[in-house]
Amino acid sequence: MAVRDVLKMGDPRLLEPARPVEDFASIELAQLIVDMRDTMRALNGAGLAAPQIGVGLQVVIFEVASNPRYPDAERVPFTVLVNPVLTPLSEVMEEGWEGCLSVPGMRGLVPRHVALRYQGFDAAGQPLDRSVEGFHARVVQHEVDHLRGILYPMRIRDLRNFGFTDTLFPGQTLQDD
Ligand code: NI
Repeated sequence: MAVRDVLKMGDPRLLEPARPVEDFASIELAQLIVDMRDTMRALNGAGLAAPQIGVGLQVVIFEVASNPRYPDAERVPFTVLVNPVLTPLSEVMEEGWEGCLSVPGMRGLVPRHVALRYQGFDAAGQPLDRSVEGFHARVVQHEVDHLRGILYPMRIRDLRNFGFTDTLFPGQTLQDD
């Protein structure tokens, strides 16, 4: 188990576009995914992108277990998504609160497509193709933004809807992406 340090907003590595994975058989890719999973779970995150631990590759993971403290979130199975391509299935955008392990202690209201198709590859290089909506779609958009050097505060339409989690949602424990 290797829990890695998560880079915080202000680190220029979070603003760089990530490179596609070319070698799915490498030990380095397998180790990266294990470290990402260990890090996400240790920090109780809902998702993590490789650039957040300083690796500029197009790898994201996400997982939402059913959690009574987070009743609005549907369950999302543990997923490794490599070299993702997103296709919105709706032009409708919905605002929702997001947090991020790279922006600890804060929440912001972010517009996302309500439904989308995501394609890419799993950890073994097998094709992945899912159409999802709601919170699952939101998490994917948040994580894939990290591969483009975009952090969620850059997408907040009205910065009055950005603040500290313990002030916005006192007494609640919320997951970060
Ligand atoms: Ni994030």
